[in-house]
Amino acid sequence: MSGPNTSFDPKQVAVLSAEAITAMVATARAAVVAAADLAQLKEVRLAHLGDRSPLALANRDIGALPPAAKAEVGKRVGEARAAVKAALDSRQIELEQARDEFVLAEECVDVTLPAARSPLGARHPLTTVMERICDIFVAMGYDIAEGPEVEAEWVNFDALNVPPDHPARTMQDTFYVTSSESGVVLRTQTSPIQIRAMLDRQLPIYVVAPGRVYRTDELDATHTPVFHQVEGLAVDEGLTMGDLKGTLDHFAQEMFGPGIVTRLRPSYFPFTEPSAELDVQCFVCLGVSVDNPDVPCRTCGSEGWIEWGGCGMVNPRVLQAVGIDSSKYRGFAFGMGIERTLMFRNGVTDMRDMVEGDVRFSLAFGLES
Ligand code: DAH
Repeated sequence: MSGPNTSFDPKQVAVLSAEAITAMVATARAAVVAAADLAQLKEVRLAHLGDRSPLALANRDIGALPPAAKAEVGKRVGEARAAVKAALDSRQIELEQARDEFVLAEECVDVTLPAARSPLGARHPLTTVMERICDIFVAMGYDIAEGPEVEAEWVNFDALNVPPDHPARTMQDTFYVTSSESGVVLRTQTSPIQIRAMLDRQLPIYVVAPGRVYRTDELDATHTPVFHQVEGLAVDEGLTMGDLKGTLDHFAQEMFGPGIVTRLRPSYFPFTEPSAELDVQCFVCLGVSVDNPDVPCRTCGSEGWIEWGGCGMVNPRVLQAVGIDSSKYRGFAFGMGIERTLMFRNGVTDMRDMVEGDVRFSLAFGLES
């Protein structure tokens, strides 16, 4: 058994004194407290508990102590390291909590905030007016009829008793597909749907037909080369102009208000005989503005009536062209422009607003026009 090692140099191991160790712990604790985030704390852990930290070096020096001193100093250094580790660990927990709270606050979604709304758009008033017209006639027992926009010249003109030398057939009004000899046109009116309805359907016939039509007009405030019409056709036994007038009055009341009536003025259309221009009573002034300069009316120009379309009794020649017995059946028909209807009904002054497709124009009409 060897005696106690008394040959160590007390100066060399001064680093192991209680004061020195306590100071190391204090320095480490101060650094731990000063660590503001987890990254800094990691550096502090390395500096005060890592292999090259003062306490690790002190631990290594224990080996140089006399055996009698080893236990005491070993305990001191061990406790010191444990204390530093405890400080680091508790600071670690604190900083992790702080980080979690920060992340939660940063990334939190407030589900009660109003969502960004995507714009809904709006249906075009031409569409809603055409639907309204269809509803009015469906309620009277009419069917909706359709026809192609690229139409046979025979259907668009000849069958409707529009002779080949009629001005409406010249290149000025009609878009011909390929050439004027092609026999195929972009329909210039919805009246050819009358012909198709009479060729396709069983008698009696009650149809209403909204649709797009084409004419070689320049786009300006009152013209557009593409516009819309609605056509009405009834073919039955014993129909009279009284039936036509009653139907149009009902139509006018549904469109413009109770009590509004229509007026027929003699006119000419090849496909009707007799033919009439169809006027509707001014639904704004009810005629009060006529000869009354004190209360001028912008809607009817103080005329009391507004031109709305054309109508008449179907020309027997048209019935014959589609093989209907004109001695037994009679028909009435009418047609009007949808753009024109919107202009005076809703005060649209420029036709171009209707074709440009700016949603702000449509939005102003709301859901029902
Ligand atoms: N198709 C005619 C036009 O475009 C309008 C018209 C007039 C239609 C009289 C009809 C009618 O059905 O009977 O000018």
